[in-house]
Amino acid sequence: MATSVQLPQLPFRHTHPLETAPALRQLRSLGTVHRVRTPVGHEAWLITGYAQVRELLDDPRLGRSHPRPETAARSGESALFGGPLGDFDTETADHTRMRALLQPHFSPRHLRGLAPRVEALTAGLLDDLDEAGSPADLHAALALPLPILVICELLGVPYADRDQFRQWTDDTANVCDRARSERGLAELYRYGLELVKHKRAHPGDDVMSRLCATDGVSDEEAATRSMHLLFAGHETTVVQIGWGVLLLLSNPVRWQELSDNPELIPHAVEELLRASTRGGAGVAGIPRYARADFRIEGVTIRAGDLVLLDIGSANHDPAAFAEPDAVDLGRAQTAHLTFGYGARYCLGAPLARIELKTVFAQLIPRFPSMRLAVDCATLTARDDVLAGGLGELPVTW
Ligand code: HEM
Repeated sequence: MATSVQLPQLPFRHTHPLETAPALRQLRSLGTVHRVRTPVGHEAWLITGYAQVRELLDDPRLGRSHPRPETAARSGESALFGGPLGDFDTETADHTRMRALLQPHFSPRHLRGLAPRVEALTAGLLDDLDEAGSPADLHAALALPLPILVICELLGVPYADRDQFRQWTDDTANVCDRARSERGLAELYRYGLELVKHKRAHPGDDVMSRLCATDGVSDEEAATRSMHLLFAGHETTVVQIGWGVLLLLSNPVRWQELSDNPELIPHAVEELLRASTRGGAGVAGIPRYARADFRIEGVTIRAGDLVLLDIGSANHDPAAFAEPDAVDLGRAQTAHLTFGYGARYCLGAPLARIELKTVFAQLIPRFPSMRLAVDCATLTARDDVLAGGLGELPVTW
């Protein structure tokens, strides 16, 4: 796979946590479809334009599987997202089945019913934060535990097991060490199977129990689907809460603006979801494999090629968002791609939105004087795990 051609090398290093990596900015000025080298040395296409990323996110000529997985280029060492996933011949049918199975538990109406619990859980975490006093690490006190508490309640996974499964999901998400990622995923599935056995014997009012009770769902399928949800349901939300709070605290005028006008919060959440995805880091986008040859922007993509759909770059494309580097809480155009687009659009988006809105609606009025306890430039995003995100968020008030 490796050749002598000098290609832009992923990941692109950031010089400031809230700014686009200089190498990515330079690349984007040249076009929207780029040949790059992934962190593991394989060649891939990096798509950075909004229109192109949106189109390809919903294009059946791209998929997650590969006809010869062992020969496929990899975006990283993660067992879940580093390489091909699933069976090439049955991928479309498998995906349709997965959505049909999960959709009933993820309807916006069903998820909105969880809002009062999300509010109560957030209030409880903020009580603890208040009691422990300033300064504090908002990552450990709020961004991390809230999505874990919420997904545990939704799925019916015991919160008491969080330290264990958090270690396994963190290992699974590792993009540098394949053995560690595979071990984490295997532990997670083993844990899922144990839970399925328990749910079959003692069903509860939760998504895991309902999956187990669905006709034709084996123990293995219930366990893997549930563990994928446990993974998808908290990793990304933890990261987005962290970035959202940091974007607000890095400019106290924004914190004040939402403190004075709480009715702006739902709209502001969309801008924070857009602005916080910067692109180019770690995995650098949603990985797909071309299922057929096709052309885009004058470039031929060959069947089997790895294509990275860089959502962060798309969200900063000046052709789609005026002054994309500015954080404009009242921005009119909010159609970001942070939750994907089309057939694979994030099933948990309504829940993630509820969590983000609740965090800001409670945190800002309760801690109006909150500020960063360190210089923003000294904070670093993790580049060893899939979703990136802050390892800590020191605040004071
Ligand atoms: C802010 C938080 C979140 C972000 C940024 C996010 C982002 C995404 C993105 C970009 C996709 C599309 C992947 C693709 O096109 O291949 C996706 C899919 C998915 N997400 Fe989320 N997600 C978040 C929260 C959640 C939550 C809370 C859940 C579950 C409770 C969830 C469950 C899923 C599932 C099951 C899929 C797969 C959909 C499919 O393949 O058809 N996500 N998410």
